[in-house]
Amino acid sequence: MIIEKLLLQNFRRFKEKKFNFSNGFNIVIGKNGSGKTTILEAIYLLSTGKSFVTSAVQNCVNVSEDYFFVEGVFNNVSRLDQSQNTLSILFSKDKKVVHLNKRKVKAFSLIIGKFPVIVTDYALVELVKDGPSKRRDFINHVLTFTDEDYYKNILKYYSFLERRNEYLKDGKFTMDLLLFLSHELYDYGIKIMEKREKIINDFNERIRDIFYIIFDKKSELSIVYRPSKLEKLLDPDSITEEIRRKRTLYGIHLDEIEIFDGQINLREFASLGEAYSIGFILKLVESELIDRYKSTTPILLLDDFFSHLDEVKREKILNYIKNNEVILTSVSTNDVSKSILNSANVIILEDVLNENN
Ligand SMILES: Nc1ncnc2c1ncn2[C@@H]1O[C@H](COP(=O)(O)OP(=O)(O)OP(=O)(O)O)[C@@H](O)[C@H]1O
Ligand SMILES: [Mg+2]
Repeated sequence: MIIEKLLLQNFRRFKEKKFNFSNGFNIVIGKNGSGKTTILEAIYLLSTGKSFVTSAVQNCVNVSEDYFFVEGVFNNVSRLDQSQNTLSILFSKDKKVVHLNKRKVKAFSLIIGKFPVIVTDYALVELVKDGPSKRRDFINHVLTFTDEDYYKNILKYYSFLERRNEYLKDGKFTMDLLLFLSHELYDYGIKIMEKREKIINDFNERIRDIFYIIFDKKSELSIVYRPSKLEKLLDPDSITEEIRRKRTLYGIHLDEIEIFDGQINLREFASLGEAYSIGFILKLVESELIDRYKSTTPILLLDDFFSHLDEVKREKILNYIKNNEVILTSVSTNDVSKSILNSANVIILEDVLNENN
């Protein structure tokens, strides 16, 4: 899939700006604060309805305005669907209004997964080194783009979880109601767990090979999945404990997902550079799996690509992803090799101070 055009209105520092991208490498060059990450953020927003920079989309509205509008034109959404799609989001008063090909979309969940993008930035380090919630989010992201039903199951699961936790917290519930919610969490939890197990197996089949291709050395990388004990949700003793502690203590929202190299848990041991590199490998596997399950190559948004990896690894990665549309950002052209620069679409953002918009 490719994004051909992007229009930003009142989106962070851009009052009104259009960008054209080519089907290959696109390099966005600009000084600090010139809006490089903002461009990637807008594309990610069209794909997922969320930002990867902030948890509150409201922050993307230009400070002197009260709405933003983002529109993207996507081509070749999959190898089976070569049509052109125009997707837009108007955000104002904390509400998103989404249009796909001029038709209003009732809920973002109806189109999520259709326009797959993958972003890499400094948060790759957190993906490897932070607590399991980052890796659960990552697996959720992969499954949203590879499995039709996953996102719906997750939405249902979390709405039941929220209700159950509210009842446990304020103590105003009947046992029948609590058990009903326990069964819902269990049923949705089983589906989610099975899908997580399967996709993590898929990762484990490819992760060492892709690491070898990029780093030219062997590894014993694996993702280890330890699901929370779902059967406890239905166990009377555990429910008594949950009532005492006023929250849900079991379920897929507590699944542990760890990355190991042999016996070593990388969360504890990886250096920052190693964590970034392994995070990158995870994203490359994700791209391959989206391609396998959705017959499309996701758009790769590589923020500050040149800051973290040495030249040899960078060249190998760029060579590996040459079938994807890639939009990468950098503060200067100095780090970009001549061959790439010559073949890429280069977008230069004007200096913040010299620009009128
Ligand atoms: N809601 C907003 N309204 C107006 N300007 C904003 C808003 N949010 C962020 N900005 C400005 O936009 C700029 C941030 O842009 P962005 O993060 O995209 O820069 P960048 O080119 O990625 O910089 P760096 O090289 O430091 O990563 C900053 O100057 C920031 O002050
Ligand atoms: Mg940036």
